[in-house]
Formats: sequence, C-alpha cells, structure tokens
Amino acid sequence: DIKGVLFDLDGVIADTAKYHYLAWREVAKRYDIELCEGFNENLKGVSRRESLEKILGIKNIVLPEEEFKSVLKEKNELYINYLEELGEDSILPGIKEFLIDLKRSNKRVAVASASKNAPYILEKLELLKYIDYIADPGSIERGKPEPDIFLDAARGIGLKTDEVVGIEDSQAGVDALYRANMLSIGIGDLRNSLYNLESTGELLDKKTRRLIFKG
Ligand code: BG6
Ligand code: MG
Repeated sequence: DIKGVLFDLDGVIADTAKYHYLAWREVAKRYDIELCEGFNENLKGVSRRESLEKILGIKNIVLPEEEFKSVLKEKNELYINYLEELGEDSILPGIKEFLIDLKRSNKRVAVASASKNAPYILEKLELLKYIDYIADPGSIERGKPEPDIFLDAARGIGLKTDEVVGIEDSQAGVDALYRANMLSIGIGDLRNSLYNLESTGELLDKKTRRLIFKG
C-alpha cells in the first residue's frame, strides 16, 4: 500500500517553473543564446549549476569558475525577484486539496526538489504544515535523473521505495523515480511514469485516489 507521496516542487506544487525559464532566458541572452520552450524541458528538475552548463553548452561556451558563479548568482537574483509575485494562486490546481486529503488520511508527505529555494517557497505559500520532510539538494551529490534525492525523501519520512509514489513534471524527475524503483505520476507528456496527467487538478480524480487512498 502507498503510505506516502514524494512531491516535486516547481511545476507540481507551485507554478514557478515559468519563473526559472524567464530568468534563464534573460541570462542566456547575454551570451547570444535564445532559449526556447523545447530546450527548457531539458532544464526542468536539473540543478542550477547543471542548467547553466547545459545552456552554455549550446554554444560550447566554457566560463572561468568565477564568472560562472557570478552568473549563477545573477540568475538566482532574477528568479527571487519573480518570486515576489508568489501568492495563493501560485499553488497549482488541486494541490492544496490533495495535501489536505493526504494529511487527513495519515499519509506522509515529502518534497524532493532540486531547488535550494524550496523551503522559502513552501513557507511563502503557507504549505509547510502539510509537509513532513524536505530533502536538501545541497547535501545530495547526484541530481535527477539519478535516484538519490527521492531515496533520501523516502528515508526522510521513514518509508520504503514500494510504499511511496512520486509526482513529477520533468523527464529527469520521472527517470529518477524509475531508477529509484518507485511509482510515479507524471504531469505532462513524460516517459517511464506509471501514468501521466494533463494537469495537477487531475490528482483529485478517481485514478489517483484509487492508487493512494485505497485500503
Ligand atoms: C528545479 C527546477 O526544481 O530546481 C529547475 O525544475 C531549477 O528549473 C532547479 O534549476 C534548481 O533550483 P534553484 O532554485 O536552486 O536554482
Ligand atoms: Mg518540476
């Protein structure tokens, strides 16, 4: 039986994936790189550092470490500025109700996000009370699609791999769950998931309810 749910944050709990994209677009422009939504899919679920490597890789640009770091800092500043706009309506459809249902049914909830801004965002959205554990991406060496962060998240809520299901909007994230031997629900058109939903609103539908709340 499923005893817990592992949530990705950006694009699953909060409508923040678009802010990452906007911030990266601005940074990329300075190197004459035009980011498009298709390429952006490769950045979802990927750490800040690795994202910049991928973006610069488009033009085979390798920056000295110092400049690289200052670009990372700048991107995060742009991103944090966008987060000023965060509010109740930044919580994606159905998520709050779903979290309330999980709490009521004594299911455990962990967040497994590559973002170092996750605790800040969850606090700002007043969702911390629904969450039992937040994995710290800073202390996990291998990011998604490696399974480590999901293994840490399951451990954090004291559950085994077959007692959890992960919810992800990125291919890297679904692949990480797959490698962790965990069930996954994809948001969007993803490979390797148990099934995909078009939107988080569908988490409240029968299919997911049967999987998580049965028994
Ligand atoms: C992931 C996002 O959740 O976090 C990525 O999907 C982002 O787009 C990554 O790059 C790292 O986030 P942050 O906030 O630490 O730069
Ligand atoms: Mg995501």
